[in-house]
Amino acid sequence: MSSVQPCTVGDDDDRRPPLDEILAVARRGLALKPKRLPSWLFYDERGSALFEEICEQPEYYLTRCEIALMNEHAGSIADSLGSEVRLVEYGSGSGVKTRILLRHLHQPVSYVPVEISPEPLRRSVQQLAEEFPGLPLQPLCADFSKPFRLPIPPRAPRRTVVYFPGSTIGNFEAHDSVELLRKMRNEMGDAGGILIGVDLKKEPALIEAAYNDAAGVTAKFTLNMLARLNREIGSDFELAAFAHRAHYNPMAGRIETHLVSRCEQQVKIGRNKVGFRPGEAIQVEYSCKYSLAEFAALAEKAGLAVLRVWTDPQRMFSVQYLERATALAH
Ligand code: TRP
Repeated sequence: MSSVQPCTVGDDDDRRPPLDEILAVARRGLALKPKRLPSWLFYDERGSALFEEICEQPEYYLTRCEIALMNEHAGSIADSLGSEVRLVEYGSGSGVKTRILLRHLHQPVSYVPVEISPEPLRRSVQQLAEEFPGLPLQPLCADFSKPFRLPIPPRAPRRTVVYFPGSTIGNFEAHDSVELLRKMRNEMGDAGGILIGVDLKKEPALIEAAYNDAAGVTAKFTLNMLARLNREIGSDFELAAFAHRAHYNPMAGRIETHLVSRCEQQVKIGRNKVGFRPGEAIQVEYSCKYSLAEFAALAEKAGLAVLRVWTDPQRMFSVQYLERATALAH
């Protein structure tokens, strides 16, 4: 039952992961070969602010393209979803794309943001309540990758649509992304759909630049993971002794982000020391990129069919609408 975390948005409850859990995660990840730390560690208060700043960097085309796509096609997207939709969003970022979508939906039944951190959830609900006073908001404080139960809608929706923008699907490895799509497929039911943002394969130099902005915001963002550990579990990572590295791996079709030790060093993690060789890397994030055909194949593995794809003229990014593959039979 621990995966279901109903929470009253507006109270000051603190759902930050407990420090002993973070310590255990850091210990375990740094004992792996190669070393690896989970990407959710990026998103403390400071990390979330830095991510918003990444989205404004000229090289980070993803957010700009997706917002432009939503602005251009929101009408036709809303038509594809149909009327009386219950919109369930996995994760709730700054909400710009969500607001564009909600403005165009025909008689939406409710909006259900599913978000693990209470503060961004509270903020997004507060903002939406102002702009959409007539729309029932049903926030759910939960980890979207774990099982949860949706709140009972105020009236029966014709369709439940899971909205998953930002190409976050790319941050899951092949097997896990199929699992997650399957989970959405269950959540939305027979008549449901998925509206998902998917970053597309393109000239590797353009992709690499997006994860290596000239202003160094992404480097600050990845290094903040070590700063966070220092703040929260009292480790003694020396930030200047690590470097941000994001390379596009063309065989795997993904950006691989690492924190690389610049020298031979020892870092204190709790009561233990962890050794680093010069050039030794901690793997922190993958961002998978897909061709339209590859993503359609991934969807198919999850029992889903791609019904519509919206892309920008340069085919940088896509927003795709999926339904159950079997639903096409009738
Ligand atoms: N979901 C984002 C992405 O894959 C997260 C992100 C942007 C990111 N820049 C990053 C993660 C740099 C790690 C490092 O594009």
